[in-house]
Amino acid sequence: MYFLMSSNELILENLLERRDLNLTMLKHLDFELMMDPTEKEILDIKILQTDTVNQLKKIEQEIAFLTSKKSQNKRVYQTPFIENTMQDELGKNLIHVKQIFAKSYEGNSHIQEVIPTEISKKFQIDLKDLKHLHDFALKNPIYHNHYEQEIDGILCTVYEGDINDYWLNSIKHGSSCQPFYPTWIMSAFIMTLLAKKLGYSELVDIGSGDGRIAYCGNIVGLNSHSIEIDDVLVELQNIICTSTKQNFNPICYDALEFDYSSLNLKNPIFFIGGLAQMGGDVLATSIIDKINSIENLKKDTGIVFAGTNTKRQLSENLENGGWSSLIEKHDLKVIDTVSLPTIWTFDQDVETPYIYTEFK
Ligand SMILES: C[S@@+](CC[C@H](N)C(=O)[O-])C[C@H]1O[C@@H](n2cnc3c(N)ncnc32)[C@H](O)[C@@H]1O
Repeated sequence: MYFLMSSNELILENLLERRDLNLTMLKHLDFELMMDPTEKEILDIKILQTDTVNQLKKIEQEIAFLTSKKSQNKRVYQTPFIENTMQDELGKNLIHVKQIFAKSYEGNSHIQEVIPTEISKKFQIDLKDLKHLHDFALKNPIYHNHYEQEIDGILCTVYEGDINDYWLNSIKHGSSCQPFYPTWIMSAFIMTLLAKKLGYSELVDIGSGDGRIAYCGNIVGLNSHSIEIDDVLVELQNIICTSTKQNFNPICYDALEFDYSSLNLKNPIFFIGGLAQMGGDVLATSIIDKINSIENLKKDTGIVFAGTNTKRQLSENLENGGWSSLIEKHDLKVIDTVSLPTIWTFDQDVETPYIYTEFK
């Protein structure tokens, strides 16, 4: 028996994954039909059903073609490494949408971001999750306007807002390691999907801002905690928890001082809210020391760092988004990386790399 990873095998795995996604989507559409939709919603659901069934037929044909070719091959295959995961696809498609949107944006709002309005071939997301993402933006006072726009053939909702006052508040704390700048809501969602896929069951968002990563953790089924030093931001998180009915456990505390053993964590993933050279390294070092001090925790713990691909923000090299020396120093291993749009990279051609690590 020997290992063979042909391009056909990779295509086949990708097709099987897409078939599963489409089948899941059909189940959700059935579910939506039972939820007493309006006539307009019924029409939209039926259109999506037809679209999904047509896609499924095409996928099935391609699978049949490839498997018949494969059965003629006498060699024994092992399951190949699947590079093209759902998170990769979503991430790539989101970056594409962001880059087109950023070039054409003519508004003058302080911050802006995009969420697909509906499920499509490029954004095959659980419909309930998608609704929750919009709910977060609609109920979040930092956004004052939204409108629909077709971007590269995908109907999207653009949310415009202002974080100036929150930003100012967040820098007034003595041990603040980084001011408030949010990632995109869609990016937070993709990051938490990946955390779930990697097998974590709890999420701790360190320096959580308005709580979007913990919120998304909650909707994908991770038991989430949200630690933020700024009381005004935590008040904002509490408002969002109440109005969206998603309790992602906001805690107003200096993350450098917090007692993490009080959370009784089993296999958590920590998201560090800050770039390495701008204070994030202080947060990260403190969290790693605290994880080390809790018995048996580190073997099942993940840590995610927000990196940068922009040279001017760093004196260090760009490997692992500027986190290489900390990763090396604390004996961490990189297990995945995903690049995603954030508010602070809106006007740049590069995105923010999120580096997923675990202890060796
Ligand atoms: C760059 S923002 C990230 C926000 C959020 N994680 C996101 O990705 O959208 C960093 C946040 O960390 C918070 N912060 C900074 N130092 C902190 C500390 N020592 N303890 C808790 N939160 C802190 C800031 O107030 C700010 O909201």
